Amino acid sequence: MDDSSNCFSSCVGFGNNYWSPRLFFSIWSSNDDLKADVLLKFRFVSRNANAIKSQVNNILHQNFELNESFLKINTSLPYLRDVSEVQAEHILNSGCGLGKELPSMDRIADGKISKKADWPWQASLQIDGTHFCGASLISEKWLLTAAHCFDINKNPRVWTVSFGTTLSPALMRREVQSIVLHEKYAPHKHDGDIAVVKLSTPVTFSSNVHRVCLPDTNFEVMPENKVFVTGWGALSPDGFYPNSLREVELKIISNDKCNQVDVYGGAVSSGMLCAGFLTGNHDACEGDSGGPLVISHNRNIWYVVGIVSWGIGCAKENKPGVYTKVTHYRDWIKSKTNI
Ligand code: ARG
Repeated sequence: MDDSSNCFSSCVGFGNNYWSPRLFFSIWSSNDDLKADVLLKFRFVSRNANAIKSQVNNILHQNFELNESFLKINTSLPYLRDVSEVQAEHILNSGCGLGKELPSMDRIADGKISKKADWPWQASLQIDGTHFCGASLISEKWLLTAAHCFDINKNPRVWTVSFGTTLSPALMRREVQSIVLHEKYAPHKHDGDIAVVKLSTPVTFSSNVHRVCLPDTNFEVMPENKVFVTGWGALSPDGFYPNSLREVELKIISNDKCNQVDVYGGAVSSGMLCAGFLTGNHDACEGDSGGPLVISHNRNIWYVVGIVSWGIGCAKENKPGVYTKVTHYRDWIKSKTNI
């Protein structure tokens, strides 16, 4: 089973905030082609929680042992354990790609303010509390971003990361432990514009902060596919920088089209992809760099397919945004982060 078909989606029903879970158990069942994590949260209101806990435990053990023929249970793991509400939220939100639920609408939206929890992997890379670039959370410790974000400063100690849809107040902040730039990247150039950033302390996942899915090398995006880019970048080339995260819906443009003489005339290499409209109007802009270009795949699971990299101006006719193509660098990401 891949990352996207994890417990996350099947557990949503248990994630109601008004529940105050005190116990949950996990079953790891597997055979050759199926592995499932199942979490059930219990809330015990009575005082004799321990008695109920051991009763539940017995029932589970008995049933699982009877059903061993089709369910292989890892009995070395405790069936029941106590967790705090924060830990339970962390586990329930540890899957990737659960974000905005796409309504069945086909109209293209103008850039607009994003709703809380729509893009929970979006991070802001900052120096002295000032936003410089976007980034995407790909695990509890790693962010994916653009290498050119660090042209200004490569020292991890000057950088901090914030999460949540508003820059101020931020929902969560972290310090940076290390920055790994692609070996092929040269400052102020566009090739190899990818970097991974390791946080000093892992984030605690919640419904508002969790990771995006990374596509496999063979994940294909097609021209005309609907994608979204998000960020706190400028609303126009010299325009104002918003405090609230914004999103805009774009379409993938083929590299052939993007390399036409009147567009980028060959500057778009196989490690890049274009998204936007040749008619202009919708685009990322300064300050969005490093941020995610995402696509919804299967049941609203979001994959980061591009990293905001470059463009001529913003939202200009024949000058769409150019993104680092994540699948092209998938093995590089794995080699640096083990994700
Ligand atoms: N280089 C810009 C930055 O550092 C992002 C450029 C994206 N431009 C565009 N038109 N899509 O924030």
